[in-house]
Amino acid sequence: MESSRDPTAFREFEHAGWEAVSAGYEQHFGRLTTQTVPAMLAAARIDKGMDVLDVCTGPGMLARAALKRGARAVGLDFSGGVIKIARRNVPGAEFQEGDAQALPFSPNSFDAVMCGYGIIHVPDPQKALSEMHRVLKPGGYLAASVWEAPKPTNGFGLLFGAIKKHGNLDVPLPHGPDFFQFSEPEKLRAAFEACGFADVAIKIVDQSWAVGEPSGLITAILEGGVRARALLLAQTEDVRKAICTMIVGGMEQFHSADGTYRVPMPALVGSGKK
Ligand SMILES: C[S@@+](CC[C@H](N)C(=O)[O-])C[C@H]1O[C@@H](n2cnc3c(N)ncnc32)[C@H](O)[C@@H]1O
Repeated sequence: MESSRDPTAFREFEHAGWEAVSAGYEQHFGRLTTQTVPAMLAAARIDKGMDVLDVCTGPGMLARAALKRGARAVGLDFSGGVIKIARRNVPGAEFQEGDAQALPFSPNSFDAVMCGYGIIHVPDPQKALSEMHRVLKPGGYLAASVWEAPKPTNGFGLLFGAIKKHGNLDVPLPHGPDFFQFSEPEKLRAAFEACGFADVAIKIVDQSWAVGEPSGLITAILEGGVRARALLLAQTEDVRKAICTMIVGGMEQFHSADGTYRVPMPALVGSGKK
């Protein structure tokens, strides 16, 4: 598994990013990543009375859904701003500030662990997955989601296709692990297995991001993303304009009958048993 070559700087960069976009993430990405929740709950076998940990909780959608099922939920995130939002959204859950790579819990503490789009943001994903394994009780399941790799038919394909064509990828950002290193079923499976999980299964979840106008995808990334946002902001104004023009043109393929643009943003949900 790839990890950051500059973990301290990359963690600081991610942390500053999440503090800056916490509200924008909820506003834009929240309606997208909420679509992954049912598959995550099923993959982690969430049930009544369970003690559930939601790592990289963000606005707390997974913790909230676990509570609705009758479980107890603890959400963890390293951003104080994010934790404030999660506490407001899900008053019935307990939220803690902490690092996914050093979980502040004893071994065998939780019946199930979920991590929605978190392992793609940490400097050392192997450490984070191993920590989730450590705090799970034997027999418990972890569910973790990641984005599908960029393809001409999905939103990340449109975004990174335009950045690759017009932009400069060699911008001074701290090195982070490949954002799409788990984006093929066999790669996500291998990551789970490398961290000790058994009975590993991978599911593709079809989901789409509805935006009201062709520039909506760019707005969502600029207001709610971290790495892609930084990459866009690091371009010159002219280059950014060229990238945006290409993205806006590409959005036509996603124009739907109701007038909105429905951008395909499929996810992979991996699950494994301790
Ligand atoms: C993409 S958001 C996912 C939020 C939510 N789970 C969802 O499914 O929409 C990633 C979250 O992970 C948090 N995060 C990133 N790196 C982290 C780390 N090293 N330790 C704990 N939380 C981290 C961020 O603050 C952010 O809230």
